[in-house]
Parts: sequence; structure tokens; C-alpha cells
Amino acid sequence: MTRSPKTRSLLLALTVAATFAVVTGGARAASCPWVNSTAPVEDRVSELLARMTIAQKLHMVHGALTAPAGTVGPLYGGVIYADPSLCIPQLGFLDGPVGAGDGLNGVTQLPAPIALAATWDPQMSSAFGDVIGAEVDGKGANVSLAPAVDIVRDPRAGRSFEGFGEDPYLTSRIAVPEIQAIQSHGIIDQVKHFAAYTHETLRDTEVDNVVVDERTLQEIYLPAFEAALTEGGARSIMCSYNFLNGAPACGNSYLLNQVLKGQWGFNGFVTSDWYAMHSSGNSAKAGLDIQMPDDCYFGKALQAAIQAGRVAQSRLDDMVRRILRSMFSAGLFDRPLGGKPDSVVTTPAHVATSRAVSEESMVLLKNNGVLPLGPATRSIALIGAAADGALTGGGGSSAVNPSHVVTPLQGITERAGSAMKVSYDDGTVPLTAVAKARKADVAIVFARLKQGEFKDRLSLELFPSDTLLIEAVSAVNPNTIVVLNNGSAVTMPWLSRVNGVLEAWYPGQEYGHALASMLFGDVNPSGKLPMTFPRNETQIPATTPTRYTEGMFVGYRHYDQNQITPLFPFGFGLSYTKFAFSSPALSAPSTSDGSVEASMNVTNTGSRAGADVAQLYVSFPNGRGEPPDVLKGFQKVFLQPGQTATVRFTLDARSFSTWDTSLHRWVAAPGTFTIRAGDSSRDLPLVASLQLTSRLTPGAPTPPAPNITTDPLAVQMREHLMCLKDFIAPNVNAVLSITGFPPLEVLGRPVP
Ligand code: BGC
Repeated sequence: MTRSPKTRSLLLALTVAATFAVVTGGARAASCPWVNSTAPVEDRVSELLARMTIAQKLHMVHGALTAPAGTVGPLYGGVIYADPSLCIPQLGFLDGPVGAGDGLNGVTQLPAPIALAATWDPQMSSAFGDVIGAEVDGKGANVSLAPAVDIVRDPRAGRSFEGFGEDPYLTSRIAVPEIQAIQSHGIIDQVKHFAAYTHETLRDTEVDNVVVDERTLQEIYLPAFEAALTEGGARSIMCSYNFLNGAPACGNSYLLNQVLKGQWGFNGFVTSDWYAMHSSGNSAKAGLDIQMPDDCYFGKALQAAIQAGRVAQSRLDDMVRRILRSMFSAGLFDRPLGGKPDSVVTTPAHVATSRAVSEESMVLLKNNGVLPLGPATRSIALIGAAADGALTGGGGSSAVNPSHVVTPLQGITERAGSAMKVSYDDGTVPLTAVAKARKADVAIVFARLKQGEFKDRLSLELFPSDTLLIEAVSAVNPNTIVVLNNGSAVTMPWLSRVNGVLEAWYPGQEYGHALASMLFGDVNPSGKLPMTFPRNETQIPATTPTRYTEGMFVGYRHYDQNQITPLFPFGFGLSYTKFAFSSPALSAPSTSDGSVEASMNVTNTGSRAGADVAQLYVSFPNGRGEPPDVLKGFQKVFLQPGQTATVRFTLDARSFSTWDTSLHRWVAAPGTFTIRAGDSSRDLPLVASLQLTSRLTPGAPTPPAPNITTDPLAVQMREHLMCLKDFIAPNVNAVLSITGFPPLEVLGRPVP
């Protein structure tokens, strides 16, 4: 359950002009020696913590929906208000993965994260994070609620566009530079949603209990979080709405205490997703540090639990220590907030980044020679309302208000100039649209599909009206191109009838410019699919939303394992030039750490400059239970016609490891491994093999997964709804009845 966009704007509107409880450095220094101090972070934390009362500590562990008396404050997605008596600055939590959101204006709308992943370019990810970090800071917030590194288990998932696709390795490599760039702006990054959060419909209800085995969790759903924290250095993490194997993710000791804080040694803080908590004491004991956005569980209820001895005082100290540690490490005590909610933070450079990411992200799925548009094309017809009313972003909490939007119609008209006649028809009356398409040299049909938070898609189909338009136009114009403006895989029963298909994703505010560059060949397409496009819904590996019976066989792992031919495979994307791969070479595993050096040559054998993504997959020895090929390396190379580059990879011991469920750790066992490389998961011409002779155990030994004993789900849900009552009132009884519970009066139970 979360705020509707309407509630969000209402709440925002309720906040008056912002005042900031930032005390000047000089004033702080006298009474607050931890401010602007050069002492080590741990000492500063201890010094401050020692001065805090229980009330002051409790203030730090939950959000507040209204500003404290006598002050007003910016709301953002959530706020922990400043404590001027201790010189503790305000913590503003601002969404999200597409840029500075929460209804704020004067910001840059970036392409959707799935588009960023389609660039397969960590440098782009760094540039993307740089925009987010600068704009979140410039808005006076200091916790950036991004990125989402949830794995796309089912392409119908409403939020599949908010993450980086179906593969943990690709997701990790895109997440790490983004996080580093965000935090380079002196703020705290919050990676989300931990963990195994893969669908929307009926989320956060009693039926939302994800059942997943330990190995699948460790090999598929957790590695991107691990990379985000241990390599990216994210200073905070958000737990998710779903239950995981019987305990809510935000009250799950295995996830929070054992994996996150134990296995990975995370010393930052964990925030609940908005209204995702189910208990006070249990959540605190399970490792949750902050409740958002209110204090229902971690206010008076937590105080009572501490007083009654159900939660140790030391746990509260640990919660606050973690929050302060992240704040001191980010430098939040040493400088004023970077701006205020109405600051204009978009810049031409940020807009240029939005465009550059979009240009690198579009995936050319089909091209029978119709693209790029050349001088022979004298007229083009743009068909479909999406040419003029594009979906530049998806729905839900990631929504960002663009500072301007360049539509395809504007971008293409501008680029075409006087040399080419551009006509447009919104397709409302298909006959008129078809007549326009018939007269043009090339017809481009624009199809769009809205998806977002709160609801999953029911199928992978486009809207029937878009399908109809594609079929009608392609029947009269042999040079028909389809431009897809959507957030995830779609089926294409019309594919054989059209000559070109370009996946543009949710492309951000510079859509029209990026698209025109692509269509006219100013930029050579280099995007590759970060998720498989199935032929139909029966090919999707997931069969139910919460029982992960497909295990590790998610995305291409499923298609390869079961020898299913998808519509378009993971890693696939065409270019206006051609590439060839040669000279694979592998070193023997290093005797010190087991790592292997791999290299290969990539040559641009065509006549245009362009970029390709060299992809490297590892095949495990038979009997290890792994899918046929697992992505373990990739590199994007830009090459002039005729140019060759040597790309090099280091495969560490983890690349050859599987999760051992009896030892509860990573183990690379000796055996013969095959390495394949190429530029799509289904086009891997280079093959080499290597022998691992010693047994390696990278990473720390890990506590075993406990037998989780919690209250029955129904009881946990009731407690959850009791705490939600202020938020959902006056409709609380309606919500209870939808979810099968008796009215509140009958429940009549105090908030735990
Ligand atoms: C979403 C989070 C978001 C939060 C705050 C929740 O509904 O799941 O991703 O950060 O709201 O807006």
C-alpha cells in the first residue's frame, strides 16, 4: 500500500515554503563538536550518540508526515526532520530511479532504467547517476531512492522498466557506477527493493508471500544488492513489500541480519518501503532501522517494546548508529542542504545526458534495409498518437516531471528539414491513417504501452488498436517501421509484415531528438536487450507470481535450458554495421586467487562507425545444476569501419562459483568450464575451455538460513492493516473487506 499520485501531490501542496533547520557551522561547533570535525566517523557517531536521549534516538528511526510544530519542511517522498538541538540535519528521501521525482518540477527526466541497462554501458550509468545525484542534492534532499535492482522474473511485472532486466550480472554492473556517481554528490544512496520483489498485483497482501529456495535467492535475486553495497558502497537499502518465505521482507531476520549485515558486512541502514512494515519489535529485532513514512511502529510502539524489554536498548542504539554513520560518511553534518524543493536543478548538460542515454539504449530489433532513412526517402508518414503524445516515462513512484518533452513528431520534423515531407496522423480513424501511409515512401507506426507501479500487465500484447494500425499500415506500405514506446517485452504477431522494428523504451524527455538520430543514422544503434522477448506468454518462465518454482531458470537461463526459441533473445540488438569476433584467448587460473584473464578481438566489418557489446558467458561443468550459459562479462566497444579492438576480461573466482546449500557459501569446484563469447546470448561464435584444478571459496562463510518462525500470515497482515488505518481511513473498512478481514471495530486490537 502506498500513496496515490493524488495523495502525493496533496501532501506536497500542504507543505509550505521550506525552511531549513541548518545551523551554521560556527554555531554548531560550540555545542556540537561532531560537526565539521576531523575525527574518524565512528568517533563522531559515538560522541553524538552518547548525548542523545531515548526520545531523540526514536526521532531518528521513523519518518513524519507533518513537520514539527513551529517549523515547516519539504516533504519529498519521506522526511526525518532535523534535530537542531543536536545539530542533526534533516534527512529528505527523494524518489527515484528515473531522476528527482515526487512531483517536483525543474528537474530532468531520464530514460527508464531498463533503457539504461539496454546501453550495456557502465559509463552511461555513471553519467545517469551523476544527473540523479546532482538533482537530488540540488533539491535539498539527501537520500536518493535509486536504483531498483529487482530482477525481471516476469516481463509482465508492472515495474519491470524500473530495474535493469533479467540478469544479476548486468544489473550489478549497471548499478555500481550509478550508485558511486549518486554518492559522489555528498548524499546517501538507497538501493531497493530488498528482496525478491518481482510483481505488483496484490503486493503487500496476505497472498504476497514469495517462496524461493536459498540457492536461487543467492544466485539470482541477491547478487545485484551485494554489488550495490560492497562495490557501489550504497549507504542505505530499502526492504520490499513482499513476504519472503513466510516473514515480511522488512521483518526478515535472514535477509536483514544474516545476509545483509552478516554475509555482506553492511554497516549502513535499512529503510522500510512505504507502509511495508508488519510489526514494531519483530522488525527491529529482524534488522530494520527506519520506518517510512510515519511512526506507527517505530514511534511509541517501539518505545513500549524497549521499556517492556522486548527489544534491547542496544538495538535502538545500533539503529541510530547506522543512520548517523551513513550521514557522517556522506558529509551531511559538514555542509548545508544543497538547495530546496523549488530550486531549478535541470541543466543543459543533464538534458544532454538524458538524450545520450536514450540514443545508446534504443534496440534495433528488425531491419530489412529500410533503416537508416537516406536521401531516397522523400516522404515519411508518422502514424499513431504516440508520435505526438509519447510516454516518456512509466507510472508510479518513479514518475518524474520532464522540464520539456521532445516528441517524435517534433524531433523527426526538425531533423528531416525541407528535404523530406513529414506527415502525421494520430490513427483515430484508421482509414485516413492508412491513406496517408500509402502515399509515403516510408511509414512509421508508433505503439505505446503504459505500465507502472501497483499493477502488473495481464498479457504481453500491445493494445488491439495499435496492433490493428500496424497491420493496416503494413498492408499498404512495404516500408513500414514500428517504433515501440513501452517499458518491457511485448509480443509481435505482426513482425513478419513490417520491415523494421525499433524498441525505444520509456525514453525520457529527449525522446524525439534521440529517435530522429537513430532513424536518420546520425547515431548507429547499439542497444542490446536486457531481457528476453518471448514469442507468447506461455514461454514466460514464471508460472505464478509468488512460487518461484522455476528456480534459477529465469530469463535466458530458462530459454536456453529448455531449448525454447524466444522472439528476441537476451543480449540481442542490430546495428547499421556488422561485427566479427576472433582470436579467443584464456589464461590458466591464477594460483593466488583463481582468476582467469580472457580476451578476444572484435572487428567492425561494415562500412559505418558503430558500437558493439562483446558478451562473455560461462558454461559450468555438467551436474552443477547451472543453466547452459551464464553472463559473466561484457564490454561495449566503439569501432570505425575496418577497425579491430582487443577486449579483455578478468573472470574472478566468483565467476566459477555456485551457491552451496549445505555449506551456505560460494564454492568454485574443480572441473572443465567452457567460455563462449559473441554479441547476443544466442550468438556466441567464440568457444574456449579452461580447467579449474583447485577448490575455491570466495566470500565469507555465511550463517545458514534459519527456520523462520513467525506469526501466521493472517495475523501479520492484520497488524499491518491496523497500522495503516490512519493512512487509509476513512476507507479502512472497505480495504479490510477487499482483503477478507472483518471491520476494524470487530478486529478491535491495539497497534502492536
Ligand atoms: C515504492 C518505492 C518508493 C516509495 C516512496 C513505494 O510505493 O515502492 O519504490 O521509493 O514508494 O515513494
